[in-house]
Amino acid sequence: MDPSKSTKTLASTILPASLIPDCSQRPGDDPIFALNAEANARVQKGEDILNATLGALVTADGILAVLPSVQEGYRRIPFVQASCYAPISGPPSFVGAIIHDLFGDSETARQTIGVSTPGGTGAVHHAIVNTLEPGQNLLTSSYYWGPYAILANHTRRGVSTFRMFDEQGRFDLGSYADGLNQMMREQGRALIILNTPCHNPTGYTLDDAEWGQLVEITEQAAEAGPISFLLDFAYEKFAPPGQAIWRNHIERLSASVGVFIAWTASKSFAQYGARIGALLALHPDDEQRGRLANALGYSCRGTWSNCNTHGMLAVAEVLTDPELCAASENERKDLVRLLDDRVVVFNEHARPAGLHYPRYEGGFFVTVFTPDEARTAESMRRDGVFVVPLPGAVRVALCATPKVKVQRLVESLVAGVAAAQ
Ligand SMILES: Cc1ncc(COP(=O)(O)O)c(C=O)c1O
Repeated sequence: MDPSKSTKTLASTILPASLIPDCSQRPGDDPIFALNAEANARVQKGEDILNATLGALVTADGILAVLPSVQEGYRRIPFVQASCYAPISGPPSFVGAIIHDLFGDSETARQTIGVSTPGGTGAVHHAIVNTLEPGQNLLTSSYYWGPYAILANHTRRGVSTFRMFDEQGRFDLGSYADGLNQMMREQGRALIILNTPCHNPTGYTLDDAEWGQLVEITEQAAEAGPISFLLDFAYEKFAPPGQAIWRNHIERLSASVGVFIAWTASKSFAQYGARIGALLALHPDDEQRGRLANALGYSCRGTWSNCNTHGMLAVAEVLTDPELCAASENERKDLVRLLDDRVVVFNEHARPAGLHYPRYEGGFFVTVFTPDEARTAESMRRDGVFVVPLPGAVRVALCATPKVKVQRLVESLVAGVAAAQ
């Protein structure tokens, strides 16, 4: 047989991937994970790389920081129990422990329901599919966590944004009001996603005054139709001091707006890979709360069924056993201190060096503004420093940068921003 002919026959019989058109050109990898892979490849070649891309808190030695109390929580769950299917909406002990952790024994706790989700990502998914019609857009700030757009697009919704910072570098409440009111005119309903404290990617934490005005604007907009407000609480436990004020604002908001909270153990219990999370919903009315619980439980069944039993029971154990809970809080304080020390060093060097970035009081990331993010990131990569380019800025993961390397990071940022002028 003529070999060239057989090759041709083979080539022409390759099956198409049978994907629908919408799915046939999907990007293969998350850009942040792709940058991380490139950084790791250079480490393998023996280069001294500073990889400030991924959102996981590492120790001074560059090893993932974990909580021994959580490991003890896992140990205490009998293997047979850990191996069972969890209830679709999550073990009541787990969901109840999270509600208690956030709201204690208050009336608000009684008015809150929740379902388990694989991390905060699953919680955002459920909020989107249950509060927006296909074709509608969610509303969030102009800097936002990239997966919001993937989750929205994947579920046939979209994203609209309002400008996050005004000329003084404060949260742009005017732009928020305009964006929300426009959304109510166009869609007759809205889902707002707000990630605070320690916003990813900017590091920004709303202060009391900003929260108060945001609540007022949202209440007024709710006169035009149903609004859902999702507080993405991924970095809750890393908040700068004085952040307990969020509770008052959320409680007030829940009288006129559907309030949801995306909770996750990824950062606060350093359980990134265990996929433990929850979506909570607040409502003063018993019947409406029942509907919310049913709708969210239905979404669980229609997506991942049930979540990681072992992880959820371990976290419930840590939250409910007084000694273990106290131990976890102490261990977490060390992690917060580890991160805060880096933030202090960053601020000490970065402000005097003329870098522009929002108020940064703590948290895994900060965003440094630049006229050309691609050139800045490229210049930094040449120095062996990896950051994530975003429109008009680069995201810097202090969580992944040991304190002794913060000065090198700042120097590379300064050079990178200068290269973009
Ligand atoms: C802003 C924000 N929301 C939610 C999440 C959810 O993460 P996970 O699904 O790991 O809990 C993350 C994780 O990086 C995040 O940065």
